Amino acid sequence: MRLLVTGGAGFIGANFVHATVRDHPEDRVTVLDALTYAGSRESLAPVENDIRLVHGDITDRDLVVQLVGESDAVVHFAAETHVDNALAQPEPFLRTNVIGTFTVLEAVRSHGVRLHHVSTDEVYGELALDSPRRFTESTPYNPSSPYASTKAAADMLVRAWVRSYGVRATISNCSNNYGPYQHVEKFIPRQITNVLTGRRPKLYGSGANVRDWIHVDDHNNAVRRILTDGQIGRTYLIGAEGERDNLSVLRTILRLMGRDTDDFDHVTDRAGHDLRYAIDPSPLYDELLWAPKHTDLNEGLRETIDWYRANESWWAPMKDVVEAGYAERGQ
Ligand code: NAD
Ligand code: DAU
Repeated sequence: MRLLVTGGAGFIGANFVHATVRDHPEDRVTVLDALTYAGSRESLAPVENDIRLVHGDITDRDLVVQLVGESDAVVHFAAETHVDNALAQPEPFLRTNVIGTFTVLEAVRSHGVRLHHVSTDEVYGELALDSPRRFTESTPYNPSSPYASTKAAADMLVRAWVRSYGVRATISNCSNNYGPYQHVEKFIPRQITNVLTGRRPKLYGSGANVRDWIHVDDHNNAVRRILTDGQIGRTYLIGAEGERDNLSVLRTILRLMGRDTDDFDHVTDRAGHDLRYAIDPSPLYDELLWAPKHTDLNEGLRETIDWYRANESWWAPMKDVVEAGYAERGQ
């Protein structure tokens, strides 16, 4: 398969490319990435001789049409992804997440190419902490943040292009990922690298908010399964039944790193902070016979801490800038 991977120099995309090169050497991979602050060539260094990296923007119509025309399938990861950045400056989220997805859709429509669109559980809004409910593919969209609303808009475009133009697309909405190559602005790598640089971890509000954690390799395995076996037009929810509140994730990180579990600061909460996300992944188990392999979050966190310890040269250049931005916002 000739695969075009948008956003393949970011966290999940780079891990997807590594796994594809390892597990599907018969595939030919092209990465299209704008190399924003969130993407880096270094994340693809281990596979640089096995892939083609095109430095370009998904809103560049001519470039996208050309690359899609050279592909059998597109896996569309490229997005602006950080909720706090969206709250501070929403415009890039509209441009990349909405116009960028529109540009990709028009290109796959004109060439009749298969598309898998990668989305998020944040489109469904929040669940109450004590609710027995989890998100399913029929849960109504109810996004809270500028980030989530632009991802919801992109999903709606994909659905409309399937129905109106017969585009061969699937959508997945996944929960919170963790693992190697995640940007240090995000919760888990931020806290790990705070400890490694002698800073104190920072918890928004009381830390009662719940996220449903999944290892990035499990997410990517599911994406690959949907790409090959998924039903056109369907939405699949991806999750690993890893619900945990932020305070207990932070305390686990501190314990695994040999620190006192109270050695952190409570900081200003995020505006509109969603209380809880939780995915019901049963259709993925029953229909696509997928199951997560990383089912022990503590073990996954231990491995992730080891990765950040061993790869300081990857994250150190961005750390001070990220923390300066957070400090300006009182976080
Ligand atoms: P990331 O921020 O780490 O990487 C995004 C990548 O997209 C970067 O390499 C960046 O350079 C690239 N990019 C941004 N704008 C671009 C543009 N205009 N043109 C081309 N490339 C551009 O993101 P991530 O965490 O790897 O997320 C990847 C996808 O998965 C996103 O669509 C996100 O919404 C979705 N998702 C993420 C999570 C999570 O927990 N991180 C969970 C569910 C879904
Ligand atoms: O649910 C999927 C989503 O997960 C993806 O669509 C997003 O792209 C991804 O960024 C992530 O969104 P979150 O907002 O849940 O992730 P974040 O890492 O920013 O924060 C996780 C939780 O930790 C959230 O409740 C906010 C909190 N937090 C975050 C940071 C950065 C803190 O308490 N302290 C922090 O320093």
